[in-house]
Amino acid sequence: MSHISIAIDGPAAAGKSTIAKRVAKKLEFLYIDTGAMYRAVTLYVLEHGDGVIKDIASHIHITFGINDEVYLNDKDVSAEIRSPEVTNNVSRVSAIGEVRTYLVEMQREISRTSNVVMDGRDIGTTVLPDADVKIFMQASPAVRAQRRLLEETARGNNIDLATLTAEIIRRDEFDSMREISPLVQAEDATLLDTSHLSIDEAEQKIIQLVEDKLEVQ
Ligand code: DC
Repeated sequence: MSHISIAIDGPAAAGKSTIAKRVAKKLEFLYIDTGAMYRAVTLYVLEHGDGVIKDIASHIHITFGINDEVYLNDKDVSAEIRSPEVTNNVSRVSAIGEVRTYLVEMQREISRTSNVVMDGRDIGTTVLPDADVKIFMQASPAVRAQRRLLEETARGNNIDLATLTAEIIRRDEFDSMREISPLVQAEDATLLDTSHLSIDEAEQKIIQLVEDKLEVQ
């Protein structure tokens, strides 16, 4: 039996994970945060050195808990993968071919066995080019930096808006310019600008798109 897949791509802090999680819950689909997978690999590489990259599959085992916790080799690393050190290195590590090949195959395998809402940068273009619904979520850099500020403050991190804005712009540039599956809107993706939408409104728009799309198939 083939499964339904919903691909949500977009730049950092556009609201992808918050909204994708809610959509998945509502549809009773599995939610897969692919950015968290790249972050887990980055954490491992920072701890063990770049030498592990060429044979990454033999070093790493990534799983998700029922509340979307991220486990790296059976250890809960949900908080560690959001550290500034991981954030500052994740674009570099995620541009490496061996890392992408390994994670893309894992992501495709998950979609073969479950209905999924998957968010990331290359889901609609590379990971699941035949996804049933594709959304490219965007928001202005100022709005995204403000959202990230609220998240970081809630985590107890003291970081200023200017630093966050610069970090978001730098990461988007790197993710968009890289050679292998860069951040780009798939031709058949629907653009959703969340700059002036509440979380409820964005969720509702996606649910509507899914209902429209699946009804006509
Ligand atoms: O969504 P996020 O900010 O947690 O993602 C962290 C980084 O991982 C992002 O800067 C680029 C990379 N990434 C990627 O290259 N491909 C994906 N499908 C998801 C994330």
